[in-house]
Amino acid sequence: MSRFSHTLREQRRLWRLLGELAAGYWEHAAADRTPVVERRGRRAAEPLPLRPRSAAAVLRQAARYLGRNACHLASPRYYGLMNPKPALAGVLGDALASVLNPQLAVEAHAPGATALEREALGWFLTALGWGRGQGQFTSGGSEANLVALKVALNHRLPGVARRGLRGLRGQPVFYVSEESHHSLEKFADLLGLGRDAVHWIPTDGEFAMRPDLLAAAVRRDRRAGRLPFCVVGTFGTTSSGAVDPIAKLVALCRRERLWLHVDGAYGGSLILAPRFRRLWGALGRADSLTLDPHKWLAMPFPLGVVLVRDAQAAAAPFKVQAAYVPRDKQRVESYQLGMQWSRRFLGLKLWLAGQVYGRRAYERHFAEQMRLADYFRARLAARPAFATVSESPLPITCFTWLERPRATRRSLPVEELTRFERQMNLALAEEMVRRGWAWISATRLRPQGFPRLRSGRAGSGRPLRGPTVMRMMVINYETRARHLDRLVADLERLAADPRLRRRAARLPT
Ligand SMILES: Cc1ncc(COP(=O)(O)O)c(C=O)c1O
Repeated sequence: MSRFSHTLREQRRLWRLLGELAAGYWEHAAADRTPVVERRGRRAAEPLPLRPRSAAAVLRQAARYLGRNACHLASPRYYGLMNPKPALAGVLGDALASVLNPQLAVEAHAPGATALEREALGWFLTALGWGRGQGQFTSGGSEANLVALKVALNHRLPGVARRGLRGLRGQPVFYVSEESHHSLEKFADLLGLGRDAVHWIPTDGEFAMRPDLLAAAVRRDRRAGRLPFCVVGTFGTTSSGAVDPIAKLVALCRRERLWLHVDGAYGGSLILAPRFRRLWGALGRADSLTLDPHKWLAMPFPLGVVLVRDAQAAAAPFKVQAAYVPRDKQRVESYQLGMQWSRRFLGLKLWLAGQVYGRRAYERHFAEQMRLADYFRARLAARPAFATVSESPLPITCFTWLERPRATRRSLPVEELTRFERQMNLALAEEMVRRGWAWISATRLRPQGFPRLRSGRAGSGRPLRGPTVMRMMVINYETRARHLDRLVADLERLAADPRLRRRAARLPT
């Protein structure tokens, strides 16, 4: 028997132990008294042990150490960066995928797994009306954005596949809003386009891309001999949950013959809910879409999705044939749709959760988190020391502490924040996390007409960062109104602390 083998009895014992440890961890993380961020006990790095140890003892040790040295995403007071407490069915699906360990590169190696993945991808494609489209699971929204940008580039500038960028008669450029995800800038470089290829379009008072400025930037670039090929709209920006005007972007892209990719890493999951079609309906007219079920669909990491309306375009950049792979001319294999060869059975967790909970549960989940975000905004509006600075249809709220109560309209424009208010926003977010009362963060939102780093062409050049505000989102499916009441009360308590105010006054803005 190999050292790696375990008897049937021991396997069962270890699985039972894992279940107990997992349930115990979730109970600990969700408890009212548990700090949202815990650091208890340091571990000195040790060399790889020579001799075996008891699997049960090591499992217990790891669970204890990790469970006490963590930012608890499973806490209902974690209002963080789109990271959910995973739903149990998703966790079980992930564990089962590890046990089965099918190799998803080609269908012949994983017929059942491929079928279940296609079924789950089909839920999204059908919702969008992209029955002839193509989808692929990815490690996350970043990889999905990279794949989509590559598909867009090869489709709009077909010479690229063979001759690369040197075969082009100008510099390819694409457009993103100033609030878009940083992965797009990274990938401009990775694709060999260079970061100058990213043209940043300013946003309106709700931090959504301005289509008039986008149209002007495209015209200017064409006149200058550059090669616009793609617009990336965002459906739920990372900082404030802003939704770009997708219908207007569709019209512009059709007119200008540009590829429209939508980064819906967070908000795009809403397409599972017909009830919210008025919010997401225009997504069906985009060319490609990024989704991240490891955000709003409460899946464990990693789980991203890239969907492309035109199946041929989706496969074009990745078409290769390896001699050692059984050839099947009829089908496009998984490895011909993205960057990976050996691929984990990522789709199982989503398929399993979909079966266990059903579509209606997701619809309720979205509605409940939107309701809680409205509740939080209403609670802030009722307090003289706070005001919201962004309004999103999604459950993300940016807000500020106020030096003096002000009569605000629905939300206060960020450009009106004083220096001390911005300092206090940073200090409050940091102190909240330091004390472990809740996890919220500070972010910077750019007001309209904010100056840019590089003068010269408007609509290009990296934008400067704007004033600091606080940010929270409802992401944990166990967050309730009472947690939000506690958050507002804790913020008020901290804001009244003279030591915090003194510390804030020394912070950079
Ligand atoms: C709008 C947006 N796009 C893309 C990403 C990247 O997703 P991932 O972390 O899954 O790579 C994020 C992550 O927060 C995001 O908010």
